[in-house]
Amino acid sequence: MGFLKFLTSGESHGRALTGIIEGIPAGLALSSADIDADLRRRQGGYGRGGRMKIETDHAEILSGVRWGRTIGSPVCIMIENRDWKNWSEGMSADAAHRGSIRPVTKPRPGHADLAGSLKYDHDDVRNILERSSARETAMRVALGAIAKRFLAEFGVNVGSYVIQIGSERYAVTAKGTKGDEMRGARLLRFFSAAEKSEVRCPDPGASRKMMALIDRAMRDGNSLGGIFEVFITGLPVGLGSHIQWDRKLDGRLAQAIMGIQAIKGVEIGMGFEMGRRPGSEVMDEIFYEKSAPAGFYRKTNNAGGIEGGMTNGMPVIIRAAMKPIPTLKKSLRSVDIRTKEAFGAAYERSDTCAVPAAAVVAEAMASLIIADAVLEKFGGDSLKETKRNHASYLKYVSRF
Ligand SMILES: Cc1cc2nc3c(=O)[nH]c(=O)nc-3n(C[C@H](O)[C@H](O)[C@H](O)COP(=O)(O)O)c2cc1C
Repeated sequence: MGFLKFLTSGESHGRALTGIIEGIPAGLALSSADIDADLRRRQGGYGRGGRMKIETDHAEILSGVRWGRTIGSPVCIMIENRDWKNWSEGMSADAAHRGSIRPVTKPRPGHADLAGSLKYDHDDVRNILERSSARETAMRVALGAIAKRFLAEFGVNVGSYVIQIGSERYAVTAKGTKGDEMRGARLLRFFSAAEKSEVRCPDPGASRKMMALIDRAMRDGNSLGGIFEVFITGLPVGLGSHIQWDRKLDGRLAQAIMGIQAIKGVEIGMGFEMGRRPGSEVMDEIFYEKSAPAGFYRKTNNAGGIEGGMTNGMPVIIRAAMKPIPTLKKSLRSVDIRTKEAFGAAYERSDTCAVPAAAVVAEAMASLIIADAVLEKFGGDSLKETKRNHASYLKYVSRF
């Protein structure tokens, strides 16, 4: 990310998460409420553990916004950890509190615990798990909400919905028709249906089956993963570039989504299915009608809106797979890092399934990447300037 930069900091049971984002142009209307709405969406979803009941996340804007508008300086956000009162000594920065809580010596399979302890030379696994925890994704959602607010000024919508939890799959048809359907109306319908579902799946029948699977996993002390889709509509043609590997938008999106805890696979458009089909069933043929918004149009969107590392004017569609939550009530075998004794891994309060929440985190990461690509293409120190450049480009494309 070259034009929009961000960093997060904070431990899961530390005092607060903080994040700084730089590059948002001046003049964007922004309030805590814009951010809190997405924080709430991340906290929801059937199958979450006890923590979500403790936290009601709120983003405090510490800098970069004056009287409801960005001023061009870095925007700093803080989200306090409500549980801090119980951890103020155990997670204190003060050496005087050393040893105030017992060290964690039992690394959990599927977590950063063992590799992180060896790499950073820690004999207390807490020094690793506090940062590797997906608590950090709350800040990514906050910063992503700012990027989303920015993209909304350009008619860009970012959303997601869950299509699979465990073995229960909701079959979305990739095929559409030309016109509004292909430009995203269908995706926006999926999205509004998903917002009403506790598992964020557009189909009520499939949602019920997914919830039953989660209930069963909870009863068995097990956990579940799944698959979700993120879409972005309203994008102009030509974001990203074919010129260098690291400028390709599909690659940039894949890294951002894969960088979310527990995400193990990312596809764009038809994705892996492309490897099974002949070319004639995969490529999106090109048509032209003077009355179409940009003249050229497609009747299919198997490419998921990206060709040659650039947006092609169709909605961008990303699909990602999340592994099951690695902390299980059912014992998994591991070895104590101090005594080297074998044990059944200890269970701490944990989610059973967090696929609906992960989809919200992925919306945030996709928004940050797309906002970066918009700034790369259109520049602008003020929102007005970015909008002028965007409008002039759309005019040029429509007359091409
Ligand atoms: C939104 C979200 C919530 C998560 N909640 C938990 C949880 O409660 N317990 C847990 O063990 N892992 C949880 N995870 C997954 C772990 O953070 C992740 O698997 C772990 O850090 C190891 O990273 P890796 O799976 O990317 O290798 C969650 C992930 C996400 C995205």
